[in-house]
Amino acid sequence: MASPTLISDTDAWKDLKGHVAEIKKTHLRDLMGDVDRCKSMTIEFDGVLLDYSRQRATLETIDKLFKLAEAAHLKEKINRMYIGERINSTENRPVLHVALRASRDAVIQSDGKNVVPEVWKVLDKIQEFSERVRSGSWVGATGKALKDVIAVGIGGSFLGPLFVHSALQTEPEAIESARGRQLRFLANVDPIDVARNITGLNPETTLVVVVSKTFTTAETMLNARTLREWISAALGPSAVAKHMVAVSTNLTLVEKFGIDPNNAFAFWDWVGGRYSVCSAVGVLPLSLQYGFSVVEKFLKGASSIDQHFYSATFEKNIPVLLGLLSVWNVSFFGYPARAILPYTQALEKLAPHIQQVSMESNGKGVSIDGVPLPFEAGEIDFGEPGTNGQHSFYQLIHQGRVIPCDFIGVVRSQQPVYLKGEPVSNHDELMSNFFAQPDALAYGKTEEQLRKENVPPNLIPHKTFSGNRPSFSLLLPSLNAYNIGQLLAIYEHRIAVEGFIWGINSFDQWGVELGKSLATQVRKQINASRSKGEPVEGFNFSTTTLLSRYLEASAE
Ligand code: F6P
Repeated sequence: MASPTLISDTDAWKDLKGHVAEIKKTHLRDLMGDVDRCKSMTIEFDGVLLDYSRQRATLETIDKLFKLAEAAHLKEKINRMYIGERINSTENRPVLHVALRASRDAVIQSDGKNVVPEVWKVLDKIQEFSERVRSGSWVGATGKALKDVIAVGIGGSFLGPLFVHSALQTEPEAIESARGRQLRFLANVDPIDVARNITGLNPETTLVVVVSKTFTTAETMLNARTLREWISAALGPSAVAKHMVAVSTNLTLVEKFGIDPNNAFAFWDWVGGRYSVCSAVGVLPLSLQYGFSVVEKFLKGASSIDQHFYSATFEKNIPVLLGLLSVWNVSFFGYPARAILPYTQALEKLAPHIQQVSMESNGKGVSIDGVPLPFEAGEIDFGEPGTNGQHSFYQLIHQGRVIPCDFIGVVRSQQPVYLKGEPVSNHDELMSNFFAQPDALAYGKTEEQLRKENVPPNLIPHKTFSGNRPSFSLLLPSLNAYNIGQLLAIYEHRIAVEGFIWGINSFDQWGVELGKSLATQVRKQINASRSKGEPVEGFNFSTTTLLSRYLEASAE
C-alpha cells in the first residue's frame, strides 16, 4: 500500500511556502491601496458580508490556496461529509450535523437511510413538549407551571446552547417569547456552580434538562444526581418524573438514571458533541425558553449557510475562504492564534463556544491516517466583545504579537439607543470602533507620521505601530435567531475546511481522555483515603505530596 500523503508533501503546499516569502515583503498598507484587489476580496451571501482584503494575501495567493484545496481534495471531503460517509474514521461515524437543520423534505442518507425524518420526529416532539411546558399544561409535582429551566451539561452539551441563549437574550422577538421564564446552565462540577444555579429558584417551578450525548460524563452525571436530590428533598422522589427530562444518544442510561424514556429527546452518534447545538441539545432548552418558532429560525439560518457551503464555488464561498486563509495564517505565516472579536455584547459567548469547536476539532498532532504532522495544526482561539477587548488585550494585538482577528459587526442593534445631543447613536459609537480597529491593525503608524505630529523622539519607538496585521471583517444585517444560525454554521464549516486541508480528523477528541482516566485514579484514592484511611500510593512525588496535603488539610 502506498504511504499516505501529507498535505505538506504536495506541490501546492511547497509552492505556498515559497510564495509566503514574497508576500512577507509586502505591507497591507500597500495591498489595501489596490481597489480592484479589495473589490474582489469582498463577498456576500444571504445578507452576510465578508471582507478579507485585510489578509496578507494577493489574488495570486488566493489562487494558490485554491490549488491547495484541490490537492487536499477539499470538495470531495465536503461532499463525503454531506452524503453521510464515515469520515470520522477513528470513531467510525458519519458527520452529519447539517442534517439537524435540513428542511423537512430534504434527503440526507446515513448508511442508506434518510435521517431527516428521524430529526424531524425529535423536533416535533420538542415543539409539542416545549409548548406544553410553556403554556402550563405540563405542570410540576405540586401542580405549578414550570417557568424556570436548568440545563445540565458540559462541553458541547453546554457551550453552543449557552452561546445561542446569550445571543438571543436581548433580541426583541426572543425577549417577548421568554417573558417570565429563566434558562440557566449548570456545567462545572464545582459545587459552587450548583449553588449559583439553584439560588433563587424554587424546585416546584423548575424543570431540569440533563444534556449528555453519552450520559456518562462524570461532571454532568454528578450534577444531575445533585439536582435530582434537590428536587427529591423538596418534593419527594416521585417528583423527578415531572421535573427532570433528558437529551442523549444513550436512552438506556437515561432510563437507568430514573428519567422516563418518554421524556427523553434523542440524538445520534453522527452528531459530534461540539456540533450538537442544532440537535435536541440546544433546541430543547432554547425552545423551552424562547418557543420553538424562534429556534426554528435559528435552524433555518444555519441551513442557509449549509447550502451555501455545499454549493457555492470556492471564490464565493464564505466558510471556504475563511478556512483557507486561516490555514494560510497558521501554516505559512506561523501565527498560532486567532482572536474572535464580535462588536456586540450579544455575542459574548461566541468565543468560548468557538474555542471548543475549533480547538477540540483541530488541535491534533497526527494526520487522519495516524502519521505525525510535520507542521502545527489548529489555532489558539480566544476573544471578547468589542469594545471591552480594546481595553484589555488589544495592546498586545497592536504592538506585540501578530494575532489574526475576526471582527464581527452587526448593522442593526438589537437594542438601539439614540441620545439627544449625542453626535451618533450608541450603536454607531460601537461600530465606529468596529471599522477603525481593522485599519489600525493593517496600516499601523510610522515613525515619519509621528515625527510630523511632533512626537518627542524618545516616545517615537513606543508610539510606532508596525501594522501589517491581518483581520477579517464579517458584517451581519442584524442579530436575530436566523443570523445567529448563519454565524454558527459559518464557523463550523470554516473549522471543517481547515481540518480537511490539514488532513486531520476534526471530528474525534481523543486528547480529552487521558486527563479523565487519571482523575478516576485520583477519585478512587480520595475515596480510599477518606473512608479507610489508606495512604496515598501509586502517584509521583509531586502528586503524592499535593494530594496528601489536600486530604490532610480538608480533614481538619
Ligand atoms: O470534553 C470532551 C467531551 O467529550 C466533548 O466532546 C463533549 O462535548 C463533552 O465531553 C460532553 O460530553 P457528553 O455530551 O457526552 O456529556
